[in-house]
Amino acid sequence: MAISTQERDIIREILEMAETKTTHMLPEVMANPVTNYTSPEQLDKEINTLFRKFPLVMGHVSDLAEPGDFLTHDATGVPILITRTQDGELKAFLNVCRHRGARLEDKPCGKARTFSCPYHSWTYGLDGKLRGMPQAFGFDGVDKSKIGLKELPVWERFGLIWVMPSVPDHEVDIDAWLAPLAEQLNGLSLGTHHVFRKWELHKNMSWRLLLEGFQESYHFCHAHRDTACAGYLDNQSVHLNFNPHVRHALPQPNIVELRDKPESEWEYRKYFMTQNYIFPANFVQVQTDHVYIHTVIPTGPGTCVFQCMMLIAEAPATEKAERYFTKNYDLIRVVFEEDFVIGEGIQKGLASGANDDFLFGKFECGLQFGQAAIDAALRGEIAV
Ligand code: FES
Ligand SMILES: [Fe+2]
Repeated sequence: MAISTQERDIIREILEMAETKTTHMLPEVMANPVTNYTSPEQLDKEINTLFRKFPLVMGHVSDLAEPGDFLTHDATGVPILITRTQDGELKAFLNVCRHRGARLEDKPCGKARTFSCPYHSWTYGLDGKLRGMPQAFGFDGVDKSKIGLKELPVWERFGLIWVMPSVPDHEVDIDAWLAPLAEQLNGLSLGTHHVFRKWELHKNMSWRLLLEGFQESYHFCHAHRDTACAGYLDNQSVHLNFNPHVRHALPQPNIVELRDKPESEWEYRKYFMTQNYIFPANFVQVQTDHVYIHTVIPTGPGTCVFQCMMLIAEAPATEKAERYFTKNYDLIRVVFEEDFVIGEGIQKGLASGANDDFLFGKFECGLQFGQAAIDAALRGEIAV
């Protein structure tokens, strides 16, 4: 596959760093106040801004491939119903009846023609329109066209379903928002991929601690000593800051063989794991032959949920392929768990007073970029 100018630049930089034994550095160490992890007011602000006013990944297009397919999503605290209409349009709604607020659809996913409220059977179409109600004479004079399900913005981009969990007061330009990563992610054709595994984990740690496990590679040869360490050059990675998104490219040790090849023969993907952070809480983690999509969402002070999908180019056609990808899946579960155990341990010590600040080193670039972007978004300086 042809590589982009951006990828060629990343490789050049990595080769130079491997030669000079340096790594990507920012000018200063950053002190991040521990209150950013412990303060309930901070968490409220994060939820009300980051998890209401920005698009979050809520599925893969194959989850909603056909008319009538639906998904529900509750992790943000907003009950969301996503549908594929008879016309093939993607829609998202508040999963809340407009009569007296009952939860409309309870199943995590399925197929439906209409949604009928369990309380008094008001019925809505896949397009959210109110279709009918028993004994309609009791609501004479009510304009039924005004009490369809409340719509939320939803998009399909890069084969993923993105939903903003609140109704914005302005037109949202999703393409401008995702533009810095569009060339790379469109090139992956994730829409035609197969969802090999999908899982969700509830963790006793601030969502920020979980997020941070994916924003630096300094910890690889320590926390993942027996697993991921050997797979990458130690703490030598390139961070491209597209404020607020970040492309973090982590090279495999064998990348140094490209030194002896003309640039016209360079390949990118077979030498890298690429962590794409899509603000505020989504990751597209591209491995050499599969991709993890994950999102972390706070569920309370000191708790969060991690939602992940493993995508592969096509469903395994042979037992050998099935075994190969299962092995990768089993390994990533172990690696992620190594991060989560540490994160839950940090959570337990947060209130101890041992630290007023956490120190983000000069090469922990993703942490510094991430915190700066969150601070800016909470000040209203970053918006979709
Ligand atoms: S609350 Fe849904 S029909 Fe009454
Ligand atoms: Fe990790």
